[in-house]
Amino acid sequence: MNRVELIKVTRKHTLKQALELLDQSSMSILLYVDENGALQRTITDGDIRRLLLSGRELDETLEHLKASDSVVGRQGASDEEILALMDRHTVNQVPVVDNNNKPVDIYLRHELAPRIQLSIPHMGDHERQYVEEAFQTNWIAPLGPNVDAFEKELAAYVGARHAAALNSGTAAIHLALKLLDTGPGDIVLCSSFTFVASANPILYQGATPVFIDSEPNTWNMSPDALEKALQEYCKGSRKPKAIMVVHLYGQSADMDSIMALSEAYGVPVIEDAAESMGAMYKGRHTGTFGKLGVFSFNGNKIITTSGGGMLISEDGELIERARFLSTQARDPSPHYEHSEIGYNYRMSNVLAGIGRGQLKVLDDRVESRRAIFDRYCQQLSGYDCIDWMPQPEGDYSNRWLTALSLNPAKTKITPTQMIKALAEANIEARHLWKPMHRQPLFKGSEYFSHGQKSYCDYLFDTGLCLPSASNMTIDQQRSVIDNIRHILNKKRNKPEINRQTLIDV
Ligand SMILES: Cc1ncc(COP(=O)(O)O)c(C=O)c1O
Repeated sequence: MNRVELIKVTRKHTLKQALELLDQSSMSILLYVDENGALQRTITDGDIRRLLLSGRELDETLEHLKASDSVVGRQGASDEEILALMDRHTVNQVPVVDNNNKPVDIYLRHELAPRIQLSIPHMGDHERQYVEEAFQTNWIAPLGPNVDAFEKELAAYVGARHAAALNSGTAAIHLALKLLDTGPGDIVLCSSFTFVASANPILYQGATPVFIDSEPNTWNMSPDALEKALQEYCKGSRKPKAIMVVHLYGQSADMDSIMALSEAYGVPVIEDAAESMGAMYKGRHTGTFGKLGVFSFNGNKIITTSGGGMLISEDGELIERARFLSTQARDPSPHYEHSEIGYNYRMSNVLAGIGRGQLKVLDDRVESRRAIFDRYCQQLSGYDCIDWMPQPEGDYSNRWLTALSLNPAKTKITPTQMIKALAEANIEARHLWKPMHRQPLFKGSEYFSHGQKSYCDYLFDTGLCLPSASNMTIDQQRSVIDNIRHILNKKRNKPEINRQTLIDV
């Protein structure tokens, strides 16, 4: 039986049967046809709920349904026309009827349009040329001219003196901790509001993470909470080995305050700038304030090498040692001689070629992501329940992902509901990072909150991020915006969009 037959109902069907059909078919509409098989209207579970609320019983039939307008396409309409119809009416399923108004098919959005993803790679014009050169010269190895050039070009771009190209941001974080001599029993103060890759390497080293809350101005590490932790740990014999500060979603942390605390207490800073390549704090690139800085070129990042990372520092000896450790710690000797543990963490020459091409378009990518953020803010400015991730005066976020929080005092809709409703429209949205102190992996870890209430818990409970890829089309952005409006309007019980009957497309 084709899927149209599966969801056809007549006036003889009971409300219970209609609900069962909706449940079994995984469609969100039923097709209500007359005795000749002509489509009269579509029915959603909301229509049935309203009948029940008006006093009808489950074993009564659908004959009590009132006539209603429905969004319908004509047989022969193109996919583009049906998609435009879906966009215009913010629906994800459209039945198609023949000349006698008999339903012949049902179109589903996810079958017509690619999923709108959170963040996908966006290649420029030069990556292929550098990769081609690697092939022509047979530099298909770790190390090679692209690696050297990528390190120099990236260092020059961010204004750092030295850089080591590695095979992931996580590897760069791990080496940063090694270089600061972090070992078993040592304390590392780490942003709680982050992806787990900021904290996992602390465990690789057998050290103990102590998590620090976020603050409202930047959503990143709270200097107040950091100071409480430094006071607590520096008074005894457990002075922390490092501060791991993360610049989440492309927004810098408050680096003046954090660096002042680092200096006052003599604890070095590692900046996890994995998500903030191209972002600035008071005119200076994130990643360049601490003793060591880390970038990631994972596939979802603002520029990518498919996988890769970079460790930067002003200290050439540290970066030289990072290169040594990342190539199996081979001692200078005519044979293979090893006196300490090493790693296979170096970036390949092929991937560094992609990185060189990507670096050339980084400014454009930042501009595009910022423009997407601005468009979301502007087009959804009528919804005071949305608090956008802030960007303090003087900062320049790369807006890697548009992040927002839904104020629970102003809307009943939760991030989970919003994410689910967007997924039904074939749009990927995600919860904000779940704080590390709430992860089972770090159960029992110490945590210092910004105020009486933990701020990053609030962000996780209320926040989500929206599709932000720099190659998103305007139509895709419009679709995200229309769907968010639709979801929030529904919750406000505003009248739904006026639908036309049998729209000819
Ligand atoms: C905040 C943060 N830190 C570290 C990493 C790790 O980078 P990679 O995936 O390159 O290992 C990522 C991303 O994946 C990240 O988002």
